[in-house]
Amino acid sequence: MRLILLGPPGAGKGTQAQRLTATHGLVQLSTGDMLRAAVKAGTATGLKAKAVMDRGELVSDEIVVGIIAERIDQPDCRKGFILDGFPRTTKQAEALDKMLAERKLKLDAVIEMKVNDDVLVERITGRFTCAKCGTGYHDTFKQPKTPGVCDVCGSKEFTRRADDKAETVVSRLKAYHQQTAPLLPYYEGRGILRQVDGMAEIDEVTQQIEAVLATL
Ligand code: AP5
Repeated sequence: MRLILLGPPGAGKGTQAQRLTATHGLVQLSTGDMLRAAVKAGTATGLKAKAVMDRGELVSDEIVVGIIAERIDQPDCRKGFILDGFPRTTKQAEALDKMLAERKLKLDAVIEMKVNDDVLVERITGRFTCAKCGTGYHDTFKQPKTPGVCDVCGSKEFTRRADDKAETVVSRLKAYHQQTAPLLPYYEGRGILRQVDGMAEIDEVTQQIEAVLATL
């Protein structure tokens, strides 16, 4: 199965992709995570991407398309994958179509996670992640069961993203509405767009996504 989770920053794409990875054995392909790893490693791509990401703008299509094209050819993607944060522009969507067609692969569904802008700032500024295993948490909505200890790996170290400041979130939302939202009619026209209510609680959103997957 090959899916796209499409939605604004903070919509819950990463949260739900991690769950689908655990329950369906699909690989999560997050271009944001890949770019952050490149920044951390200090690669040429990371150096190019860092300033753009810190401003809340989109990294060039060329860079992200290259990253995804390389990644989907790896053996763990054979069973299927969830694209989280890609595509984000019409050019990226067209490049994805081409790369899937060349590999005779099909996209099963694009799941739009609908969330109002006003709740996104609270979600993003309250987010933190386990520094060791990457499990995501939130100051209010998803705290570790034992405060300060990761539920999954027991680590006591957590990190917050450099672009999760309120002022950067405004630029990220602008980029979403101007450059990514036009993909919704693009996929609707192909009959593969599905919608879930991303405003609902995390478990409820998972159930809605499972209901969509059951129809595929
Ligand atoms: P990226 O890493 O993709 O970030 P994003 O799209 O802005 O999305 P987020 O990761 O912020 O949010 P999410 O939807 O995954 O929400 P999450 O599950 O964490 O991109 C970062 C940057 O990289 C971009 O700005 C750009 O510069 C660059 N980039 C990446 N891909 C690119 C591309 N294709 N092209 C060009 N540039 C690219 O949830 C958020 C918080 O809310 C969490 O704390 C969570 O616990 C909580 N939460 C989740 N669901 C719920 C719920 N239902 N109710 C309450 N709380 C919830």
